[in-house]
Amino acid sequence: MSDNLVIIDHPLVQHKLSLMREKSTPSATFRQLLREISHLLGYEVLHDLPLTTKTIETPLQKMEAPVLKGKKLVFVSILRAGNGLLDGLLDLVPSARVGHVGLYRDPKTLQAVEYYLKLPVNMEERTCVVVDPMLATSNSASAALTRLKQAGARNIRMVCLLAAPEGVEALYKAHPDVKVYTGALDERLNEHGYIVPGLGDAGDRMFGTK
Ligand code: URA
Repeated sequence: MSDNLVIIDHPLVQHKLSLMREKSTPSATFRQLLREISHLLGYEVLHDLPLTTKTIETPLQKMEAPVLKGKKLVFVSILRAGNGLLDGLLDLVPSARVGHVGLYRDPKTLQAVEYYLKLPVNMEERTCVVVDPMLATSNSASAALTRLKQAGARNIRMVCLLAAPEGVEALYKAHPDVKVYTGALDERLNEHGYIVPGLGDAGDRMFGTK
């Protein structure tokens, strides 16, 4: 498995993930759990954000207090399931810019087809965190990363909830510079490109569609 994979095996992530995997978990609970897990994943994926200091006054004295440096962070959501992780990351960094990439999986070829792209300016200056709960074949993620690089992005990391070994390997081959953070690495993909044991279709589970 690639060096660029970080599995966030915190007990809270694992517990919440198990609740999400349960097929009887209703959509509202699923979305709430996804938001909570994204806080925990975000804590890890943003661990190296650069800091600067500013002078503040506590009730006791002045101090040089650490604050985030600049406003150079962008979260890029791969529609539509990415939005579940996005909401939680925006809870952590409300001032981050947001990009969206719309891709759907052709059900026959499993290839990613782009239908929407909106990104902030100056992508080359930003730390870019791409969010998609399910890293399955990695076709969508790989296509999104290629588009982001075409738009100038250089410093990119990816966060997902579940990954399949096949997807991790394929993504590493196509984009070895991109570190992947995941809540779990599952067994495999099935013949329909679903992660097994997985949690089903993340978008459908979030929005109650079929
Ligand atoms: N996308 C999903 O939502 N679930 C999978 O198992 C694979 C891709």
